[in-house]
Amino acid sequence: MKFSSKITSPEAVKTACIIAPIFESNALSSTASQLNNASEKYIINIIKKGDIEGKVGQTLLLHKVPGIKADRVLLVGCGKSGATSDKQYRKACASAVNAIKSLNADNAASALHEIDVEKKDLRWKAIQSVQIMASALDRRDMLKSEKDDPIKLNQITLTAIDKDESKVIKEGINIGDALAQGVSLAKELSDLPGNICTPSYLAEQAKTLGSANSNLKVTILDEKKMESLKMGALLSVSKGSRQPAKLIVMEYHGGKANKKPIVLVGKGLTFDAGGISLKPSAAMDEMKYDMCGAASVFGTIKAISELNLPLNVVGIVPSSENLPDGAANKPGDIVTSMAGLTIEILNTDAEGRLILCDALTYSERFKPDTVIDIATLTGACVIALGQHASGLFSNQDELAKDILAAGEESGDRCWQMPLWDDYNEQIKSNFADLANVGGREAGSITAACFLSKFTKNLNWAHVDIAGSAWQGGGDKGATGRPVQMLVQYLINRCQ
Ligand code: BES
Ligand code: MN
Ligand code: ZN
Repeated sequence: MKFSSKITSPEAVKTACIIAPIFESNALSSTASQLNNASEKYIINIIKKGDIEGKVGQTLLLHKVPGIKADRVLLVGCGKSGATSDKQYRKACASAVNAIKSLNADNAASALHEIDVEKKDLRWKAIQSVQIMASALDRRDMLKSEKDDPIKLNQITLTAIDKDESKVIKEGINIGDALAQGVSLAKELSDLPGNICTPSYLAEQAKTLGSANSNLKVTILDEKKMESLKMGALLSVSKGSRQPAKLIVMEYHGGKANKKPIVLVGKGLTFDAGGISLKPSAAMDEMKYDMCGAASVFGTIKAISELNLPLNVVGIVPSSENLPDGAANKPGDIVTSMAGLTIEILNTDAEGRLILCDALTYSERFKPDTVIDIATLTGACVIALGQHASGLFSNQDELAKDILAAGEESGDRCWQMPLWDDYNEQIKSNFADLANVGGREAGSITAACFLSKFTKNLNWAHVDIAGSAWQGGGDKGATGRPVQMLVQYLINRCQ
């Protein structure tokens, strides 16, 4: 999908469909009102007939509106005039693109960004429009023999009234477009099944990203290399799998050479059956999504390299499978991590923290400014926060604040949870330096406490995306989260 901005008046746009916002109580946006004037009240007369009330997300398609250049007009409800929230704005954008994507129209023009949205500026509105409209075209039919109907729509113009507006809208388009590409890559990788998306597959994808961008250096560490680094925790997980583990390192150099990097570490379990502590079979297929943290690192790196952000960012993805096998970890096994801490594996299904702890230790060699890990780490996080917020933990309150703010701004929210010392009691072991599980209570916190043992020297945050990274049920699929939040965080770090 191509996006552009054009300075124009609504009645003069030559397009297959112009998207015009309207409100409840027969109130018109500026664009709807101009179309109404040019068409001698055609629009308001139709609205008064009652086919559309202006509620958020309602749409009405009109053909042959007199006095204007566009072939069609799509009226889109935006709620009460002057009181549209950010969430409602996003819903209106999604409804608009859903209404036109099945039409026999290859282009459209949108004026949705002209409406007032509580506490949001034009740039934000343009970013959201572009991101939502572009990702509405994401497909899940890669592996189906019969493809969904092709979508003709390939060009959307965002209307502007003057040069100043057009400049801001163009900036928004640039960011929204990069975001959409990042989110789309994350979704695509996440939705792939475990038999295709293996650790080696992810490594190949990283190389492909690297060869497409001269700012990106990709290195793949194999199991032999990991052995020489003494990554005993990570390797203990992959022992039970026939697929070799990979440690994928993507170094994005957009900033000055001496600028310390921000490191993103993404959990890359391409399938998590639980190992010897086997999971129940219901919905186990969804454990192909146990690499959504990794996918979000790929998506974020893709987006920031599209944007050429002036920062240095390192993406680290420890990737493995977790399967039951004669060589797999057994409950009670004790392994030694790269940091030297010994770990008693009381439950082989708490494998994410085992691969992450070694990756976090490895991240120290980049002398990072900040390290953020992203992981589908605990079912307990799904119970605590559901799908609406990712769980946030940090040993630096300033960093937590920045991440929370980026989440609010992008609509990809986090909620901070405590990392109090009290919880460390739960991960004590009788036989090793620590245990890999801390019992049923506060499961996502004890998991984060476990990671915190390996990040004492780092300015670190952990984002548990077990609830937010995908949705199950009839509309099963990855959400691409938290690419939106991470890219926003990195954009904010450039200022
Ligand atoms: N990948 C899972 C966490 C998960 C479960 C994410 C369900 C999303 C939905 C993780 O590896 C895991 O199995 N965690 C265990 C930890 C427990 C054994 C302490 C869990 O949450 O049950
Ligand atoms: Mn597990
Ligand atoms: Zn897992």
